[in-house]
Amino acid sequence: MFAVRRLNVETAKRAFSSSAANATKVAVLGAAGGIGQPLALTLKQNELISHLSLYDIVNGPGVAADLDHIDIDGKVTGYTPDNDGLKHAITDATIIVIPAGVPRKPGMTRDDLFNTNAGIVRDLANAAAQYAPKAHMAIISNPVNSTVPIVSEIFKKHKVYDPKRIFGVTTLDVVRASRFASQMKGTSTKKEKITVVGGHSGVTIIPLLSQTSSNFTDDELKALTHRIQFGGDEVVKAKAGSGSATLSMSYAAARFVNSLLRALKGESGIIEPAYVRSPLFESKGLEYFASNVELCHDGVGKIHDLGPLNQYEKQLLEAALPELKKNIAKGVDFVHK
Ligand code: NAI
Repeated sequence: MFAVRRLNVETAKRAFSSSAANATKVAVLGAAGGIGQPLALTLKQNELISHLSLYDIVNGPGVAADLDHIDIDGKVTGYTPDNDGLKHAITDATIIVIPAGVPRKPGMTRDDLFNTNAGIVRDLANAAAQYAPKAHMAIISNPVNSTVPIVSEIFKKHKVYDPKRIFGVTTLDVVRASRFASQMKGTSTKKEKITVVGGHSGVTIIPLLSQTSSNFTDDELKALTHRIQFGGDEVVKAKAGSGSATLSMSYAAARFVNSLLRALKGESGIIEPAYVRSPLFESKGLEYFASNVELCHDGVGKIHDLGPLNQYEKQLLEAALPELKKNIAKGVDFVHK
């Protein structure tokens, strides 16, 4: 990953050589958590970031002090809520990444996290809308299907809403899809590039396996689709009550942040999946949808449509839309109740 990243860094630097390239602040909110810490460690190594700002209700300064001893240039600062910590953490941020909140325990769905995480995300979004209204928001906290609408509605309330700057991070779904397909076929993950669309929970996760170069039998298709949709449960179960995916998630989030930074700095042709405000299913009443998104200098660029679907994928889509619609409405209602 790092060899690839360094190449990307060089390309981005060439594409954008003004001094602004050297002044990029990325804030992580929830930085002392299971995702936050390894994510902060990876972002510390990203040369496109000049200032890594770490906020958590506990231990933000501790994580920052630790990372600040690494012999890589760039500033690291840490905050708790004391002394306007959140305001200082996010002011002037180019990207705000939010992994704050509670993770699942065995037997829980992502929606079960709503009651706790919705309020956390709402409060962080309120602060962002006030102190960093131009930041690009990368939302990791679950249920992503609902937390992205929450952030959007808060930004609308503050009259600073720009759908090009609000992302639900679904990168882990394509990371898992690639890994699981390669394990099934005995191929390299590099060969298995799989588009995943819809949302980020259970049946709303729709892998488009008919569009890959590998061939799957019907049984393989069903098994692989199920594993991609419910792959997170494997980790929740294996961790037996101590959390959900943190290391693979921090890898996925670091990849997303790196791609977004490169695009913001002027590199073209960068495509990542993301759950964004999307026209794709607006006619069916869905404001948000995850699909491949071309990232550009101001955030969301071209939103790719789904391409040809086979019968099985059409069925998956039919099953996903009502669930996704419900999740979106829940987020929107939460802000307006
Ligand atoms: P964790 O419990 O290890 O860490 C969460 C951190 O958030 C803690 O350090 C906590 O102190 C902090 N926090 C709580 N309230 C806060 C607030 N108001 N402001 C700032 N920080 C606050 O949880 P973990 O494992 O890091 O997961 C975080 C979230 O990410 C969960 O909601 C989880 O479901 C989600 N997740 C999302 C994935 C995705 O693909 N989008 C994949 C895996 C997890």
